Amino acid sequence: MFHTEVVLGLNLLLFLHVGAQFRINGQQKWPVPYRRFDRRPDVDSYCQALYPFCPTGDPDGRIPYMRDSDTISVYRLQTPVWEFKYGSLLGKFHIMHDAVGFSSAETGANYTMEWYELFQLGNCTFPHLRQEVYAPFWCNQGAACFFEGIDDLHWSQNGTLEKIGVLTGQQFNDMARWVQEDNETGIYYETWTVRSDPSPNATVWFESYDCSQFVHRTYRKLTELGAKLSSRSQTNYTKIYLYSGEPTYLGNDSAIFGQPALKNLALDIRKFYHTFRPHQTFADAMISLLEAFETVVLERSFYLYYNFEYWHLPMKPPYVRITYEEVPLP
Ligand SMILES: *[C@@H]1O[C@H](CO)[C@@H](O)[C@H](O)[C@H]1NC(C)=O
Ligand SMILES: *[C@@H]1O[C@H](CO)[C@@H](O)[C@H](O)[C@H]1NC(C)=O
Ligand SMILES: *[C@@H]1O[C@H](CO)[C@@H](O)[C@H](O)[C@H]1NC(C)=O
Ligand SMILES: *[C@@H]1O[C@H](CO)[C@@H](O)[C@H](O)[C@H]1NC(C)=O
Ligand SMILES: *[C@@H]1O[C@H](CO)[C@@H](O)[C@H](O)[C@H]1NC(C)=O
Ligand SMILES: *[C@@H]1O[C@H](CO)[C@@H](O)[C@H](O)[C@H]1NC(C)=O
Ligand SMILES: *[C@@H]1O[C@H](CO)[C@@H](O)[C@H](O)[C@H]1NC(C)=O
Repeated sequence: MFHTEVVLGLNLLLFLHVGAQFRINGQQKWPVPYRRFDRRPDVDSYCQALYPFCPTGDPDGRIPYMRDSDTISVYRLQTPVWEFKYGSLLGKFHIMHDAVGFSSAETGANYTMEWYELFQLGNCTFPHLRQEVYAPFWCNQGAACFFEGIDDLHWSQNGTLEKIGVLTGQQFNDMARWVQEDNETGIYYETWTVRSDPSPNATVWFESYDCSQFVHRTYRKLTELGAKLSSRSQTNYTKIYLYSGEPTYLGNDSAIFGQPALKNLALDIRKFYHTFRPHQTFADAMISLLEAFETVVLERSFYLYYNFEYWHLPMKPPYVRITYEEVPLP
């Protein structure tokens, strides 16, 4: 215990040092903007998908062109993540996956559009600690998948399949162009939303970037293009929260793991992530997180990886929470 305190004390000095450098240009903006890239980089060959990403989508991500005379229906799609449908977690958490559906009145064809992890949720939430690479290694890309067909049963049983509006062919085509650009520039998945506390006017330090955020962006884009969307039921989404005091910027991989001066911080981050290895299923990882209160609660520390950079979160009650809350249609 004494040893831990000394290490934490040392690291705190380092945080202050790094933090001071970061603040030279003035106040930090919250929430930290999610970083966009010029283009999506290739995935490292270390990352191997257990289930292929977007198996029935077009390999180049092409989206069919709709005639302007067509009427395209829009559907809100939601289903429980399979590992939460069965087993002991059933009923404990509402972990839902969200997507958008489309159907063409002229051709009768329908389509599903979703945004999800290339290597599943566990890999986007926790990194790999590799012998030969000092920095924790992340397989955290996420991307949009557009494919023909809507599996009505998959969405409507225990989930939602609801028509929420209609588009012209032109509006659909404009949206398609936006999706491709969004997909090329927003490349990584972020599980956590980090806030100062659970109250409605809390400060949001970091926003998640996940399937439901993609759905919200799409709805906002469709509204901007002139579509009217409405739902007969409450539109709730899963949010996975961390609660912390003001985060401190630590640095990227080369800053932290490439400098002998930050060795203690580097070791502390590796030790932290050792608790949460991504080969577990996501359900296992969440249980281990909820159980790992020794790290999160006693040491009150969480190392968040956001925009390919590390931040220190001084955690505070209630630490972690999974909610299923309303986000109205735009
Ligand atoms: C997570 O990433 C590791 C490393 O590439 C890979 O072996 C594993 O299959 C991935 N897990 C899933 C569920 O895709
Ligand atoms: C999005 O990017 C992924 C990864 O490169 C690709 O497989 C997919 O086809 C793209 N989707 C769209 C709709 O452009
Ligand atoms: C999508 O198309 C399939 C095949 O024609 C059909 O069974 C299903 O009901 C359609 N779903 C929607 C929501 O249009
Ligand atoms: C829906 O939930 C019930 C129990 O609540 C379960 O028996 C059934 O298998 C589920 N259906 C699907 C398609 O997951
Ligand atoms: C909102 O913030 C103010 C101070 O800025 C505080 O007095 C008030 O209690 C907060 N409201 C809620 C619901 O937490
Ligand atoms: C990492 O951060 C340093 C500044 O601390 C910066 O010079 C460098 O370009 C960054 N590296 C990457 C890969 O972003
Ligand atoms: C949906 O969200 C609202 C408000 O965020 C909440 O009161 C309600 O209980 C939620 N519904 C379910 C089924 O969890």
